[in-house]
Amino acid sequence: MAYPGLFISLEGGEGAGKSTSIVLLQRELEAKGCKVLVTREPGGIRIAERIREVILNTEYTEMDPHTEALLYAAARRQHLVEKVIPALENGVIVISDRFVDSSLAYQGYARGLGIDAVWEINHFAVQAVMPDVTYWLDIAPDAGLRRIEANQLREVNRLDQEALSFHYKVQEGYQIIAQRHPDRIVRIDAAQTPEVIVSHMMENLQQRTRIMGK
Ligand code: TYD
Repeated sequence: MAYPGLFISLEGGEGAGKSTSIVLLQRELEAKGCKVLVTREPGGIRIAERIREVILNTEYTEMDPHTEALLYAAARRQHLVEKVIPALENGVIVISDRFVDSSLAYQGYARGLGIDAVWEINHFAVQAVMPDVTYWLDIAPDAGLRRIEANQLREVNRLDQEALSFHYKVQEGYQIIAQRHPDRIVRIDAAQTPEVIVSHMMENLQQRTRIMGK
């Protein structure tokens, strides 16, 4: 669906450095005079916040994987309708920290529900609204988890507590999804500095916006 705005999502496993890159990317785009909205699911939307509390609660170890996938899709829908679409309609560049591909990689592939099955429920949730471009910050899972451990400020959630093998599966999942959508998903080596990562994004965005006429 063509909105006047531009929809960018950032994806990656734990400790890939999405948050730092997003801050820099926002700064670069604003310096060029763009209006930017940075968000992440659940994005301060009260209904989605409540859903997130349930999903990430470390006490809820009994959560069924299908329930988890459905809850993510429900939170995504609310965030999309309340926050992302209105901004895109107003010509804003929306940068979302995670979107549909997180569900495909985490629930679809790593949890083993199937990428296609998880896409079905997400398709229902997002309809035709997909990012114009997705930057996948690819980090070796052991390096990513080491980064998180070093960052004392970050809260530990239910998914961080999964075994290392789960995080390797997440990475494999992203690889498969990126191969399926080579036009939309751009892999960036997350071992590089945030400055280098963001310069790749800016270069790529300039090319794309020329092509898209935005
Ligand atoms: P968050 O604290 O936002 O972590 P991060 O900084 O890694 O983005 O926690 C989100 C967690 O939820 C993270 O482990 C990834 C996971 N997740 C899914 O499994 N499926 C999804 O659809 C989304 C959006 C996130």
